Amino acid sequence: MSRRFVIIGQKATASPDFSLLDIAGTSGRIDILLRCLRSALLVSHGLRRDTIVYLVLLGGELAPRVLRIDGGHIRFVRPDERQLAILVQKALLRLPEGSPKDAFFEVRAGLAVATGGLDAVLADVPDLDHARVYVLEENARDIRDDAVASANVVVFVGDQNGFDEATRARLASLRAEPIGVGPVSLHADDAITIVQNEMDRRHASSGASASSSPAS
Ligand SMILES: C[S@@+](CC[C@H](N)C(=O)[O-])C[C@H]1O[C@@H](n2cnc3c(N)ncnc32)[C@H](O)[C@@H]1O
Repeated sequence: MSRRFVIIGQKATASPDFSLLDIAGTSGRIDILLRCLRSALLVSHGLRRDTIVYLVLLGGELAPRVLRIDGGHIRFVRPDERQLAILVQKALLRLPEGSPKDAFFEVRAGLAVATGGLDAVLADVPDLDHARVYVLEENARDIRDDAVASANVVVFVGDQNGFDEATRARLASLRAEPIGVGPVSLHADDAITIVQNEMDRRHASSGASASSSPAS
């Protein structure tokens, strides 16, 4: 019973050639997506084994590409931004030329990359018709107002510019439910932390056990 977070980076580069000395300035702000990855996947001294994160990279000549990081299988994930950038960079380097569109290529256990955008993600979600699909939106119905699901969920998150029109149209066609995390516009990674926390609380009150375990 998974939680999937899909972070859309409108300008985040799909090329591995950004500088580790200036990640924010050379990568189309992939640093924002790295912080989202950390918030969605990492807890103190552990990983969320029930969470899968997709980083949708729509910037640069090699776009679109998607990275999939699966908390159930990945090992040796460090919380600092530089190490996460190295992980992403290595994965982007490994995608074989001419890989079939929308098919994930496993770089190592828990880490995969695909050529493609949102469609690659949607094709990867098993039984999408029965998942609860949410989109994090400012000014939307508050996550605390209703019974947000805590398992078998897909949550879409925007970058510093929110969502582009094509993504919005696709999310509308999926009937994604807009949910908000309060009246203030937050950084995307902070919004994710709140969502995970709300889902943890629902999960705990349902009597289920936590599912994090050491990161390495
Ligand atoms: C910095 S915000 C984007 C702000 C951008 N100016 C816009 O108009 O969408 C980045 C993302 O974090 C999420 N987010 C930030 N604050 C939120 C809130 N209060 N409720 C729900 N989602 C939020 C949304 O997914 C948003 O697209």
